[in-house]
Amino acid sequence: MERLQKIIAQSGLASRRKAEQLITEGKVKVNGQVVTQLGTKVNATDDIEVNGVKIEKETPVYFLFYKPRGVISSVKDEKGRKTVTDFFNNIDERIFPIGRLDYDTSGLLLLTNDGDFAQMLMHPKYEVDKTYIAKVEGIPSRLALKQLQDGVKLDDGMTAPSRVKFLSADKRKKTAIIEITIHEGRNRQVRRMFEKIGFPVLKLKRERYSFLTLHGLNAGEYRPLTPHEVKQLRIIAEKGRN
Ligand code: URA
Repeated sequence: MERLQKIIAQSGLASRRKAEQLITEGKVKVNGQVVTQLGTKVNATDDIEVNGVKIEKETPVYFLFYKPRGVISSVKDEKGRKTVTDFFNNIDERIFPIGRLDYDTSGLLLLTNDGDFAQMLMHPKYEVDKTYIAKVEGIPSRLALKQLQDGVKLDDGMTAPSRVKFLSADKRKKTAIIEITIHEGRNRQVRRMFEKIGFPVLKLKRERYSFLTLHGLNAGEYRPLTPHEVKQLRIIAEKGRN
């Protein structure tokens, strides 16, 4: 037996929070009866309807994808641009990205049909470490990078402390390669952080997501997460550490 909101979230139809809202608003039926009580337990044989449509109980699936640049981190794009799910031709499950990478950012992106799992990893309280490699215009001093480490003030508030490593510089082209690890997931956060200290990002790639890396994948390729990796991510997110 599982909680109703969990089953709805797992179907990929809505996040856990949205599922709870649908239940309390009387939009959910179990075996033909409206259920508004959160936490109602259901089993695999129960029929669940949301807004009059029976939910598909999909098997949860989890993928690690190497997103190329020039791809939208969503399921559909009104402007007809290529989206991350366009790379998953043989997958029947309705998967969606966990969080997003900018159109111009490449790198590691997780996709799943498990709304609950996605919600957990994206929750601000539990956000896991994400490591980016940024090519920036100009060569930042140690002092400039310390600002990123300590936190900088953006339009939406101070950033949490980050870990920053100077990797290399091209003195002739006046560019530098910097590694930065953050655990927050604000919109365009890394680009905005570098912009703030006066070194605009020219190129950005996410190299790691918690303990996961892009090892063995080329841009545009993906692999399923192992059950052990899924379990580890749950443990890490629940503990709120990496
Ligand atoms: N920070 C950014 O600026 N862009 C991304 O795509 C991810 C993090």
